[in-house]
Amino acid sequence: MALVKVGLVYGNARDLKTDVLVVAVTADEAGKGGAFKSDALKTLDKALGGVLSAAAADADFEGKANSELSLHTHGKLAAARLVLLGLGASAVEKDTARHLGSRALKATERHKLAHGALVVPAEVDLENLEAAAEGVELGAYRFDKYLSDRKPLKAKRLDLALPGPATKAQKAAVQLGTALGEAVNDARELVNESGKVINPESLADTAVAMAKESGLKVEVLDRKQLERLKMEMFLGVAQGSAFGPRLIHLVYEPAALKGKKHKPLALVGKAITFDSGGLSLKTAEGMMTMKCDMAGGAAVIAAMRAVALIKPPFPVHGFVGACENMPSGTAQRPGDVVRARNGKTVEVLNTDAEGRLVLGDVLSWAVEHEPSAIIDLATLTGAIGVALGPYMTGLYSTSDELAGELLAGAKKAGEEMWRMPLTEDLKELIKSPVADLKNTGGRLGGSITAALFLREFVGKVPWAHLDIAGPAFIEKDRGYDARGGTGHGVRTLVELIRARMA
Ligand code: BES
Ligand code: MN
Ligand code: ZN
Repeated sequence: MALVKVGLVYGNARDLKTDVLVVAVTADEAGKGGAFKSDALKTLDKALGGVLSAAAADADFEGKANSELSLHTHGKLAAARLVLLGLGASAVEKDTARHLGSRALKATERHKLAHGALVVPAEVDLENLEAAAEGVELGAYRFDKYLSDRKPLKAKRLDLALPGPATKAQKAAVQLGTALGEAVNDARELVNESGKVINPESLADTAVAMAKESGLKVEVLDRKQLERLKMEMFLGVAQGSAFGPRLIHLVYEPAALKGKKHKPLALVGKAITFDSGGLSLKTAEGMMTMKCDMAGGAAVIAAMRAVALIKPPFPVHGFVGACENMPSGTAQRPGDVVRARNGKTVEVLNTDAEGRLVLGDVLSWAVEHEPSAIIDLATLTGAIGVALGPYMTGLYSTSDELAGELLAGAKKAGEEMWRMPLTEDLKELIKSPVADLKNTGGRLGGSITAALFLREFVGKVPWAHLDIAGPAFIEKDRGYDARGGTGHGVRTLVELIRARMA
């Protein structure tokens, strides 16, 4: 459900009846010392009897990125408050628009007012309009359901205010933006709920419910079926848990294609609903955030919901490998050798390197559906955080073209991503004397060796791996991402699919 109603209104900025009128201002428009350069600002200043330029001069508001100026209008505008949001030098790109929607909502909320309106220029791109609406939903999200003293959002409605009546296309863009924001919030919520609530079985139930609502096909494979499919790597990880494993398979097929064959795009997600490390137990500290270890799966489920909305002309399949990694008398042991679905044998030396074991078998299964490309998302390694910091996804790919698509999508999505190398030299680090592979490659290059391991299971299909262990879960609020699960990856997937539709 939408957290805030995003509306479309039109009219002159001065006459907009709202609690908080929000105007985005570039450094060029703001000028220095309150010497406004844009006609829009001059008009507002005039209506306010010069108070706006005086306040700008007083507060050194120069339109710098992320700066803000807020003042009472004392009845001189139809709106009770005016907020200027600095944009800096940059032109408004898609992610700037997303941030503006969020900033407008947050400004309204900070003033404890119910209704905000963000002024949007007549010539606004449809994609920026959509992104602003999406940003409102993103900025409204927080995980507070277990707080006894939680307060509902004061901000109930954020309008995007055009100079003239909205077109049909503009209305559709706002609706879609809202829905895409909701999809990202779905992923965030799944990540934020703990392993007490989200286990492989309940995650599968959630995916099935979403699929039914969205008109997707869905199939859930349980332990027996995975045994029949000889997924020993996956089963080995799951065997210490009281919950059974689930392989969730979501299918979108365009109506026009029914019956005809067309290679699908495959999305694969790691969903360890809690990663204790297994018998290679994590430290207490290392375990604290491990409810987030299903973020890749959550992103795939949410992206499939979005796919059902944007209806690409090609099929898209989502595969989510869900299980829990627990230590117990039935848990797999370091030293166990398992045989993967694709026949390769693996010596499991560290039961905490479980994601690659689950994903390996799920990737093999995806390959058997003859996709045009496979993209997997996984909170796979702590090492990627060491390499790229807490906010960036590591991208690995066997295809320069697919990598390019993902980097372009990530930029539009506002999701930071950096391509990493599949260093051939490091392959020897995952060789085992007793099996074809071992599941750890040591500390150095830990994210690379994990990716090299996954590559053993994708055959010849163009493949990309997104190690989202950094950005999937963050410690403090950052822009439109609240602390906790971010839903990172959903928007990049959506952008990639839409670029393929164009
Ligand atoms: N789920 C973790 C990776 C992770 C770490 C995600 C921090 C998010 C934040 C993964 O299963 C794991 O434990 N990886 C090990 C691999 C090692 C044992 C080879 C790691 O990164 O230490
Ligand atoms: Mn682990
Ligand atoms: Zn893990």
